[in-house]
Amino acid sequence: MIIAPSVLTANLSGLAQDCQEALDAGLDWLHLDVMDGNFVPNLTFGPPVIRSLREALGPGPVFDAHLMVENAESCYQDYIDAGCNHISVHVEAVKHLHRAVTAIREGGASVGVVLNPGTSVEAALEVLPEIDLVLIMSVNPGFGGQSFIPHVENKIRRLAHAIEEQVATGGRPVQIQVDGGVKAHNIAMLRSWGVTNCVVGSGLFNDRATVSENLEIIQQALQE
Ligand code: DX5
Ligand code: ZN
Repeated sequence: MIIAPSVLTANLSGLAQDCQEALDAGLDWLHLDVMDGNFVPNLTFGPPVIRSLREALGPGPVFDAHLMVENAESCYQDYIDAGCNHISVHVEAVKHLHRAVTAIREGGASVGVVLNPGTSVEAALEVLPEIDLVLIMSVNPGFGGQSFIPHVENKIRRLAHAIEEQVATGGRPVQIQVDGGVKAHNIAMLRSWGVTNCVVGSGLFNDRATVSENLEIIQQALQE
């Protein structure tokens, strides 16, 4: 199971420091929540901040950009040039999904598509042979610290089944990433549904404990 820390609930005035804490705890992905105040009701950061973060942290960590923006089709290359290795775009925000995922790969990044809680899994299945990851939102995007929506189980299981079939016929293995409300108490359940990659924000970055203490509790839950 890959654990991708979301920096949304980190201390954004000391972003590199908090990211470094996650890397020092043994994580090697960083989930970067890009919000444009339009597609979602919140604003975070864009390519200049990500470029500075890449300069501060070096070439090692996987920068996983979750683009919650209206214009992903016209701006994805800015994120790749700023140092993102992976780009995920919302199917609800992109007009020509097949064209967009193909272009992102040609631009030099691995590619994912994101489904909001109210979006059917079918939209992702149409491009499944072309992508590396499907991100299932288990909260409505825009804010950290929300509660997990249990109904996504059905969507995850259907997706896991479709990926199994794709792999069995020689196709590309696709990661299932879940984002929103993932904590120590539900992460083992997510794995049993077929999830391979969990975004964890407030479960790692909070006032109660350090990132490495929180990570240890999550890893214990995965061992039980
Ligand atoms: C929500 C973001 C998530 C969120 C996760 O729009 O995409 O990455 O920050 O935070 P938690 O784990 O606190 O739900
Ligand atoms: Zn996210």
